[in-house]
Amino acid sequence: MTYSDYRTALVTGATSGIGRAIARLLADRGLEVHAVGRDAERLTRLAAESGVVPHPLDVTDTNALEAELSGIEVDILVNNAGVSRPGNVLDASRADLDAMVDVNLRAVLQLTRIFLPGMVERDLGHVVNTSSIAGHYNFFGHTAYHATKAAVHQLSRQLRNDTLGRRIRVTEIAPGRVETEVFGRNLGGSPEAMKEAWETYFEGFESLTTEDIVASVDFALSAPRRANIGLIEIMPTFQVPGGLTFDRRAE
Ligand SMILES: NC(=O)c1ccc[n+]([C@@H]2O[C@H](COP(=O)([O-])OP(=O)(O)OC[C@H]3O[C@@H](n4cnc5c(N)ncnc54)[C@H](OP(=O)(O)O)[C@@H]3O)[C@@H](O)[C@H]2O)c1
Repeated sequence: MTYSDYRTALVTGATSGIGRAIARLLADRGLEVHAVGRDAERLTRLAAESGVVPHPLDVTDTNALEAELSGIEVDILVNNAGVSRPGNVLDASRADLDAMVDVNLRAVLQLTRIFLPGMVERDLGHVVNTSSIAGHYNFFGHTAYHATKAAVHQLSRQLRNDTLGRRIRVTEIAPGRVETEVFGRNLGGSPEAMKEAWETYFEGFESLTTEDIVASVDFALSAPRRANIGLIEIMPTFQVPGGLTFDRRAE
């Protein structure tokens, strides 16, 4: 299954960062791209620039997803929309936990439920899930985020079992740090928060760019139809997940 086999794609989180870059790639490759995100203004801009079909939707609203999207034949489903919140479970708020589960996992499952049967029926399809190195490694600070991304990792593998015998491919992209808005949104999303996030997480670091992720997605989608690229872990060269902590007991 090469690009020439695919006609349509749907990308969530297409208003910003990785999702916007993937949507543009797929539009450049000549596909009909359905772009999903909440920010209608950004979607309209993207549509004007690249010809994608805008769908201003909240991915946590399953009724709205079904009402607007379920009639579309999607060959490539890119489950990319994601949110992160700082803090471990000890100081997590109820709303933050719900947001991460709802966007990072529940919406991925619901969209997969909506589009995978059509792919199976047509014997043609590719699911691309953006997870994170947080789904594979332990490090401090974002426990619920790790848990939801680990679930996306396992789901990606499981979908291969669910569709065995059909020409359905599943690719999980697990990035390390990428220069996007995600850290600024973590800090509240204001222009000041964006600036602070840039200074804290990106300035002086050689992070990945969305182009690096796009190249990985392009590689997986253009592989020969006999080959399923199951998992691409991509990190900045100067970022490693190493480190084992052994705290000395206080008493
Ligand atoms: N940047 C990194 O370092 C990094 C590393 C590993 C994994 N990731 C993963 O990469 C994916 C893309 O993130 P990014 O880095 O590109 O961050 P980003 O620039 O903040 O983009 C996040 C996207 O998700 C969308 N989104 C969030 N909540 C949504 C909702 N309820 N309904 C619809 N869309 C929603 C946002 O659109 P609207 O606000 O318009 O709704 C936006 O387009 C995420 O899954 C993230 O976890 C990022």
